[in-house]
Amino acid sequence: MTSKPKVRGGIAGSGFAANLHFEGIHRVYGADVDLVGIFSPTPAHAGRFAEPRGLRTFASLEALLDEVDVVHVCASPAAHEAIAVAALRRGVHAVVEKPLTGWFGDGGADFHVARASMKRALDGALASVDRMLDAEAKSKAMILYAENWVYAPAVQKEREIIEKTGAQVLWIHGEESHSGSHSNAYGFWRLNGGGALIGKGVHPLTAALYLKRVEGRARHGRPIRPAAVSARMHALTRLDGFVDRGFLRTDYHDVEDFSATHVVFEDGTVADIFASEIVMGGIHNWLEVMANNHRAQCNINPNTAMATYNPAEDQFRDVYVVEKIGTKQGWAPTAPDEDFITGFPQEIEAFYRAAATGERPESDGRLAADCISTVYSAYLSAEQKGAEVPVRAY
Ligand SMILES: NC(=O)c1ccc[n+]([C@@H]2O[C@H](COP(=O)([O-])OP(=O)(O)OC[C@H]3O[C@@H](n4cnc5c(N)ncnc54)[C@H](O)[C@@H]3O)[C@@H](O)[C@H]2O)c1
Repeated sequence: MTSKPKVRGGIAGSGFAANLHFEGIHRVYGADVDLVGIFSPTPAHAGRFAEPRGLRTFASLEALLDEVDVVHVCASPAAHEAIAVAALRRGVHAVVEKPLTGWFGDGGADFHVARASMKRALDGALASVDRMLDAEAKSKAMILYAENWVYAPAVQKEREIIEKTGAQVLWIHGEESHSGSHSNAYGFWRLNGGGALIGKGVHPLTAALYLKRVEGRARHGRPIRPAAVSARMHALTRLDGFVDRGFLRTDYHDVEDFSATHVVFEDGTVADIFASEIVMGGIHNWLEVMANNHRAQCNINPNTAMATYNPAEDQFRDVYVVEKIGTKQGWAPTAPDEDFITGFPQEIEAFYRAAATGERPESDGRLAADCISTVYSAYLSAEQKGAEVPVRAY
């Protein structure tokens, strides 16, 4: 047996996503990964993450970057650009969590998006994307965009079907929704660069952009890219008439909790993407493809791999059932391996293979750039009550 290539990895951040990446790194089989350690700006948080996992903590990002080939950018969205650019300048591959980057307001702690212009947001986000792609172009390392939906088994199966049958994809519709984010920071534009669309909608949106890219590659030898977008954003839980029965999170500061985004591709075909914080009953992540020769339903989560019936809530106290399920009593679409079915270990595997071979992964910086460009063009469209806005494709 030939020996596996050795690749040194590190993690920037010590929150929820850092743990997802930590778990994924342990399932990599194509490379011999040496997980060197982590950097997180609050030493107490860094220690709390590192100690039980047997990891070294680094006092600065630079010190971590000096010792790794790959860094996982699992920090808050506003920090992605600076970390990724620092990594690329040192020749370190940057596995960047979603969203790639964004526009986070004017830097003021009292920023409220109602006082901002979405043209400024679009320009600011695209300038950030340009800086990141420029750093990548000048580097021997790559942006590896951590969009797990690209690697979800159902989306990869659909890639195979499109490639092998020469399908023309006419309409994609998809959604990511649940009943409200767990994070206290969520809900502030200045920290996240937007709300439901950039927090959740980027997953089905990037999968849709990816599948049109796959179709273009298979049929014409070049990707089919997004050309224009029309969108509406709403704050349903902040309506004066909203009746709060306590089942939905309601304390969003200045972001949308509902978004509907209609994308027109350069070949005239379309995608419709929904994202919201108002859906009960567990995470609602799906993508459906209508092609000229087939139809595919990709049930990301939940799906029908397993169902459980639990007559008494208390019995399942220590049992993880499925993301964001409100109650564990009664029937539930229990996920036997949620990480696998949503593509997390597969994306990490692909990124270490890319780092070892130098081959571009399916989810790369350009796909991420198209996503950010579409998202902020959608925010501009929503400001104009759904008028069509052109999308600058990368
Ligand atoms: N793919 C997914 O399904 C998924 C799920 C959750 C989060 N995410 C993404 O992962 C990223 C982190 O989200 P989270 O839920 O882990 O948030 P979190 O609030 O749990 O953790 C954020 C971490 O970033 C750290 N951080 C902030 N600034 C930093 C900097 N300059 N350098 C290094 N670390 C820094 C914080 O200390 C904290 O440890 C976000 O971009 C989020 O959108 C993706």
